[in-house]
Amino acid sequence: MNAAQKPIIAPSILSADFGYLAEAVKTIEAGRGDWVHLDIMDGSFVPNITFGPQMVASLRKQTGLPFDVHLMINHPENFIEKFAGAGADIITIHYESTVHVHRVLTEITRLGKKAGISIVPSTSAALISDIFPFVDLVLIMTVNPGFGGQSLIECTLDKLKYLKQIKQEKGYTFLIEADGGINRDTAKMVLDAGAEVLVVGSAVFKAKNMAEEIRALRG
Ligand code: DX5
Ligand code: ZN
Repeated sequence: MNAAQKPIIAPSILSADFGYLAEAVKTIEAGRGDWVHLDIMDGSFVPNITFGPQMVASLRKQTGLPFDVHLMINHPENFIEKFAGAGADIITIHYESTVHVHRVLTEITRLGKKAGISIVPSTSAALISDIFPFVDLVLIMTVNPGFGGQSLIECTLDKLKYLKQIKQEKGYTFLIEADGGINRDTAKMVLDAGAEVLVVGSAVFKAKNMAEEIRALRG
């Protein structure tokens, strides 16, 4: 995957009104968001619950935008096929959520989807370095996953810098994505650190005009 249109903006519907998710997806499209970011939470890996493959399949009918599915669930291996079938384009699993990370990533790729790996703020990026050749995307959590509207944890930006450097050195093709606490004030430092994809929840959904907010985030 390459970031032809830099930066890619992926609004997260976690910050939308769940009674109007179809409208939220349309708003992202109208606001010229690039991807739709879907946060899947199981109440076990993270202390919150959102929605599952059925909701993803229903939303799939609303837009042609790529679906960036972020699995914050334990045992992701049990759900890869379901999310792939529901219309996910990118499926990202957490390094901390399964022992068999390589197997699950290989399965995502086998199903014809882009495979992503994510780490929480307390996990070192060096721990996932053996996986870099097998992924299309690396998602750095810049907040502790579970909720929208939190403040960015600045020390996580060092991981973006590390990814940018190792990508250049080794010629890896994965996209670098940052997720959590990104808004007009923090976007520049996240981009400067190396992010190519920005996940943005509350900043775009709380804005009066999403299109304007997305334009501002692109810099
Ligand atoms: C947090 C989610 C994020 C969240 C970001 O667990 O992974 O995608 O929606 O929301 P903001 O932009 O409000 O921090
Ligand atoms: Zn997310």
